[in-house]
Amino acid sequence: MAIVCWDGSLRIGIDAIDAQHRYLFEIINAMQSKLALGHAREALLDGLDSMRTYARFHFETEERLLDDHGYPDREAHRRAHREFLEALDRLSGQHPSPELAHQALGFLLSWLSGHIQAEDGRYAPFLAEHGVN
Ligand SMILES: [Fe+2]
Repeated sequence: MAIVCWDGSLRIGIDAIDAQHRYLFEIINAMQSKLALGHAREALLDGLDSMRTYARFHFETEERLLDDHGYPDREAHRRAHREFLEALDRLSGQHPSPELAHQALGFLLSWLSGHIQAEDGRYAPFLAEHGVN
């Protein structure tokens, strides 16, 4: 059963970005399901792998939009993305225990929710003013 849900509070109003954010939460859901079945190692390794691949693609999409429209805070935004990817690498470098799988799940959930609501939510009105929707 999916416990983690993408919901309307995470919508920033740019369709392509919202769809990508929803997919990031599907990755978290898949991790959660594997953990619930007792497959902690698989949940962790597959989850981090999928997250790294898709987050990289997603961050490139956002950063391209921010660059194209000259978003003033784009460097700080890019830095936040880079720090997230570095945190994924640190998690991947640790012994894949069930505790780490739970810790990673909690981190992904809180980082993504916080980043989308705060930082992505900040660029959304700027891009909307530039005709991106
Ligand atoms: Fe972002």
